[in-house]
Amino acid sequence: MEEKKRAERNRTITLRETEKEILRNRLVTINTTEIHDDFLDRTINADLLAALPLLPDGFADLIIIDPPYNLRKNFNGKVFSARDEASYEEYLMSWFPQVCQKLKPTGSLYMCGDWKCTSALQRAMESELSVLNRITWQREKGRGAKANWKNGMEDIWFGVKDPDNYYFDIEAVKQKRRVIAPYRENGKPKDWEESEDGNFRLTCPSNFWDDISVPFWSMPENTDHPTQKPEKLYAKLILASSRPGDVVFDPFLGSGTASVVAKKLGRHWCGIELNEEYCMLAEKRLELAETDKEIQGYSDGVFWERNSAALYKK
Ligand SMILES: C[S@@+](CC[C@H](N)C(=O)[O-])C[C@H]1O[C@@H](n2cnc3c(N)ncnc32)[C@H](O)[C@@H]1O
Repeated sequence: MEEKKRAERNRTITLRETEKEILRNRLVTINTTEIHDDFLDRTINADLLAALPLLPDGFADLIIIDPPYNLRKNFNGKVFSARDEASYEEYLMSWFPQVCQKLKPTGSLYMCGDWKCTSALQRAMESELSVLNRITWQREKGRGAKANWKNGMEDIWFGVKDPDNYYFDIEAVKQKRRVIAPYRENGKPKDWEESEDGNFRLTCPSNFWDDISVPFWSMPENTDHPTQKPEKLYAKLILASSRPGDVVFDPFLGSGTASVVAKKLGRHWCGIELNEEYCMLAEKRLELAETDKEIQGYSDGVFWERNSAALYKK
């Protein structure tokens, strides 16, 4: 990745030449290692089509997939090109069934996309899993279009292998929201709590998520990966759909968000990523997570609504 000039308060995680060798040595490559018995808590630097057959079936409790969307995108020199819908669907189906084989019979899978590729994603999901929901994440970033609506959302499809036997922990993903019109019963707050900082209620999260920012330069999780997902977003998926000690698998790891959040939340992880620089960034973030387990917007076991950092950091 090119060296950039950065502002003083810029906290973007970058790789120093001197640390690259150490980080590179932590990667699993399919030329040097028998992956079969050495994939837990590791980053595999390979094409997923080459790596998947070397991983055991049914090893993952939770799979999070953030594939290239049907857009032109430069992933550190390797360009993914936009294509017609049928070709994109063919691309999806060249790996999706194999990825699903890695899911336990009780496992859950989430797959991200934008409005343009979402119908192909839905068809892929329905061909292998029982689809239980589609989460919409209100995503505030990107340039406005001159003759179209600016895109401000992404979808996250949620599917399971067995709709009668899967894990979901709603208590772990409750949201702390300000109460606008506090209701009392016999003079006591009903379903909300009074505090010095205001009135709050713990609410069950819906499938519309408007409390998560895209990582940006002043956030400690930020890297130069062009499509890095927020840690807070993956924390919701991991807390709801896995137990401590479970295995989280991401076949398009990018800068490592799924592995890093899994580590911060006491889960095992495994990630595949084609680009060596991104793999090293993932390893650097995993190293930082040894001592810093903070996830912005999540503390005291609850997710706080946007712009309440001053309160939960007290
Ligand atoms: C949308 S990004 C994932 C970003 C990630 N969720 C994060 O938070 O950083 C997709 C990633 O898949 C990688 N990729 C594309 N084709 C791949 C392949 N065939 N095998 C493995 N990785 C691949 C790209 O290099 C890119 O980093």
